[in-house]
Amino acid sequence: MACQLFVSSCSDSNVQSPKNRNIEQRVEMLLRKMTLAEKAGQMTQVGIPTILEQEGYWDAADTLIIDTNKLRKALNEDHIGSFVGKGFYPPSRQEYYHFIKQIQDFAVNETRLAIPIVYATDAVHGAHYTAKSTIFPHQIAMAATWNPTLTEKMAEITAYELRASNTPWNYAPVVDISWQAQWGRIYETFGEDTYLTSTMGKAFSKGAQSDSMANLEKTALCLKHLIGYGSPLYGKDRKNTLMPERFIRQYYLPPFQEAIKSGVKSVMISSGLVNSIPCHVNKFLITELLKEELGFTGIAISDWGDMQFLSDFHKTAPNHKAAVEQMVNAGIDMCMVPYDASFAHHVIDLVNEGAIPLTRIDDAVRRILTFKFELGLFEQPNTHFDDYPDFGSKKFAKESYRAAAEGITLLKNNNILPLEKGKKILVTGVAAHSLNYLNGPWTRSWSGQDTSYNDNEKNTIFEALIEKNGAANTSYYAGTSYDADLNTKETLKAAKNADCIVICLGEEPATERPSDIKELYLPKAQRQFVKELHKTGKPIVLVMVQGRTRIISDLTQLADGIIMAYYPSHEGGDALADILLGDVNPSGKLPLTYQKYAAAPMPYIHTVTDRADNFGGYSDYDPQWPFGFGLSYTEFTYDKIALNKKELTKNDCLIVTVQLTNSGKRSGKEVVQLYLRDEYASIDPDFERLIRFKKVSLLPGETKEIEFKISQKDLAFVSAENKWMTESGEFTLATGNRMDQKKSVKFTLKSNTVNK
Ligand code: BGC
Repeated sequence: MACQLFVSSCSDSNVQSPKNRNIEQRVEMLLRKMTLAEKAGQMTQVGIPTILEQEGYWDAADTLIIDTNKLRKALNEDHIGSFVGKGFYPPSRQEYYHFIKQIQDFAVNETRLAIPIVYATDAVHGAHYTAKSTIFPHQIAMAATWNPTLTEKMAEITAYELRASNTPWNYAPVVDISWQAQWGRIYETFGEDTYLTSTMGKAFSKGAQSDSMANLEKTALCLKHLIGYGSPLYGKDRKNTLMPERFIRQYYLPPFQEAIKSGVKSVMISSGLVNSIPCHVNKFLITELLKEELGFTGIAISDWGDMQFLSDFHKTAPNHKAAVEQMVNAGIDMCMVPYDASFAHHVIDLVNEGAIPLTRIDDAVRRILTFKFELGLFEQPNTHFDDYPDFGSKKFAKESYRAAAEGITLLKNNNILPLEKGKKILVTGVAAHSLNYLNGPWTRSWSGQDTSYNDNEKNTIFEALIEKNGAANTSYYAGTSYDADLNTKETLKAAKNADCIVICLGEEPATERPSDIKELYLPKAQRQFVKELHKTGKPIVLVMVQGRTRIISDLTQLADGIIMAYYPSHEGGDALADILLGDVNPSGKLPLTYQKYAAAPMPYIHTVTDRADNFGGYSDYDPQWPFGFGLSYTEFTYDKIALNKKELTKNDCLIVTVQLTNSGKRSGKEVVQLYLRDEYASIDPDFERLIRFKKVSLLPGETKEIEFKISQKDLAFVSAENKWMTESGEFTLATGNRMDQKKSVKFTLKSNTVNK
């Protein structure tokens, strides 16, 4: 019984439908015909510059012209099975079609076994490597909407636009949890909470894959990055995470597990380390946990260059060949090499020397071929851009706008917002007039910094404010760059004529290693700029365009209004202007804790002890704004939280209700969040843990009763023996005002369960 309750069994994906049986037979037939070299090639993914006319890997920046000799060698001699794109410049969908078709045609017409290649790319917020595609807010901003339907829509449109670019495999979503406030890739995640991330991950999978990734408007997905990547001890990219197995199972694994259950068929292994073991050589992680325990039947793919990293950087292998032995034996099925075919050559040698069993190779290739069959590549190796008339359409842009408008989060409002239209606004700051800041990294190019690829018809914040507030009432000065003064004096002069100053601060686009920071505070030049403008005595609104929560504790008292914009992308300028001027009532909530102190930043998931003051009471979680926080232009009142009974038994449900009233004067949306605390447990319990949420719209004066059902499964935690279990005892549920305000109800659970 307990097992049924707590093991999210993946048996669903193992059920043999007639279609699967058919695929299985086709895979076995093919596998029997394959040479070792052909198998090793299928396991190899190279970057596209390896087959381009233009020489030099990173310089191959501005064409997609294939060198046919290189292509012939890659497919006929090295038997390469997969290619990965990277952001050099954004080709059009027509260019992608011809480029990928040329590789694909060669693979299916001129190789011995006619196995199609599979082309992969990172489309983490829209098909952003294709020119003119729809760009969505980054995942952190999608999470801030607390509206999974918007994430589903984003994933659906991204899949459509990828297929319009002849690309069937998306390296998204990122379901890493981040508890490390400094980490540079937080914006690529759904934040710091397991339940919110799992919910958004499932919505992403539903939108992108539906029930079949062979559908020509859908793509395969790849969950990133197993595991612990988002919480490196010292906050830097691809470094060591120290984490007990208990934490991995309770907080980090469920989003992967849920997305796998919903049908995602590939998982990218983290380039980082957990407890000093590089994830790529961790057999427990890849084989025992992912494949055996979760029943994952898809592909475990390496991250970019991890064969090299293992020997050149992590030093677990003296050379690349030893790295290949370690990673394949640990369970890696496909290696993103990506600079050449050396991985395949090492695989052949290692099998011949008996260092890698052929059964391991067959297992990997079986997974890869199954994936290709399930993607429908054998039937339909290419998709044509003309079949996707909605690509880059206004209709899609509207969905991106909706997401931006629902994610942007109002953090402070001293009755300054919304601004009265027609008043004189000075808009300034590094992010005020920049599409690159709004979009963040992974936009048209990898870093997102190159202005020459910008879609200039889209509005920056300044341009959107001009449209909505009138050019005569809206002026702009940059004021600062990311970390240096530019024209503070002129800006200060201009401020004299303004009724209000909107200062758009932010983080310049950067990802992976370049996104590492040494200081969590927002750069001094930007903070000093706000302090100077404050001296003018004019009201100040801060708009934070950033991927993580850079500390602004010295500015919060100087500003009358503060808005967290995240990276709201192409429609973000318009969405922000509409929020500033009151055409949209903000409804975003923080999907992460907004940190106040650089020393020991703390996520909202922490134990009761972490929060406790030994002299009584709770005090140690002192963020600038807590997880789940966000204001509105209206007021919401929570009342009458109630339970249908005071005791929960096995196989039973508890119904929690709460009345929510819009007690303000505008219609608005509120995210009702339900938190749980286990009052006493054998392991220091979490102070509170999100277990449900619902986003609701209310007219002024309207009251709605919100209902949540919970079961024993929601009370489970991972024990000291690394097993999911529940313990009988008292529990507290809180909503609206959270545990600290004691607007809560208590109930008891009578029985214990342990998952064996
Ligand atoms: C990143 C991955 C990405 C891969 C392919 C790596 O450097 O860590 O997230 O999917 O590159 O571009």
